[in-house]
Amino acid sequence: MDLKLKDKVVLINGATGGIGRAVCFALKAEGAKIALSGRDADKVAKLAAELELGPDRLWTNVADVTCEEQVKAFVDGALAHFGHIDSVVPNAGYEGKWEFNNQMSKENFEKVFSINVLGVMYMLKYGGDVLAKQGHGSIVITSSIGGVVGSPGMAIYCASKHAVQGLMKSAARELGPQGVNVNSVNPDGVDTDMLARIGKNALSDAMSPEERYAALVSGTYDKRAATPEEVAYLILYYISPWASHIFGTKTVIDGANGDGETVRP
Ligand SMILES: NC(=O)c1ccc[n+]([C@@H]2O[C@H](COP(=O)([O-])OP(=O)(O)OC[C@H]3O[C@@H](n4cnc5c(N)ncnc54)[C@H](OP(=O)(O)O)[C@@H]3O)[C@@H](O)[C@H]2O)c1
Repeated sequence: MDLKLKDKVVLINGATGGIGRAVCFALKAEGAKIALSGRDADKVAKLAAELELGPDRLWTNVADVTCEEQVKAFVDGALAHFGHIDSVVPNAGYEGKWEFNNQMSKENFEKVFSINVLGVMYMLKYGGDVLAKQGHGSIVITSSIGGVVGSPGMAIYCASKHAVQGLMKSAARELGPQGVNVNSVNPDGVDTDMLARIGKNALSDAMSPEERYAALVSGTYDKRAATPEEVAYLILYYISPWASHIFGTKTVIDGANGDGETVRP
């Protein structure tokens, strides 16, 4: 299937993480032009070298998504480099500390919300504004199953991703009539460093990484996490012209963990 992404200009942050990298390589395979951002200059340089793309197809940036000026500079710089923007993928995220109900802390709340909510808000504000002024474009937010259901020990992360759903739905209604499709993808476990960290936080130190993985995915029908590539191609579908009639939806990719989203609160 031709996703019709050739020469489309796509912005993504959190590009140095598992899902972000997979999106970058999938975009390269589809012939898109990539503006990628990460907060660690060394990781950004390493990813850029691995992508092996010239400046006509790749522009890189270093930004902390919690800093409004840096996110604005990412969007402005990509626009100046490529001349226009077709799609924006707010993808950076942080799982937070493992805290049960009686342990929840303001420190964890502020860190998680500043990355997951403010970070998405700034990308919508600046990226969405460029797309709306152009009168066309798409935005796909990497949200989470945590934006749909709750999870013991991860209330603050889940609250932040529920907030992301509110941002997504509101942006979809505001920007949709201006020609911009805004949607989210909502994975459960994805086989990245984040899932390994969640396993370490949630499960016993006595367990091996393989045992932790098996425990985390035990509720899925296929006994596995999503691959970063599976999530990446879901994102690519939603930024592609094939999804131009879809506004304000979430798509869960969770291996029916727990027999699907509807049976979990
Ligand atoms: N893996 C899962 O099981 C899972 C499930 C559902 C949803 N998600 C969501 O998927 C997205 C990508 O996660 P992932 O699985 O790819 O995890 P990951 O490998 O840990 O990548 C997270 C990315 O976010 C970046 N990031 C974190 N804080 C940042 C900040 N303040 N400014 C800029 N960038 C920042 C990280 O940068 P560094 O590399 O410098 O740390 C990294 O590039 C996140 O929004 C996450 O919530 C993941």
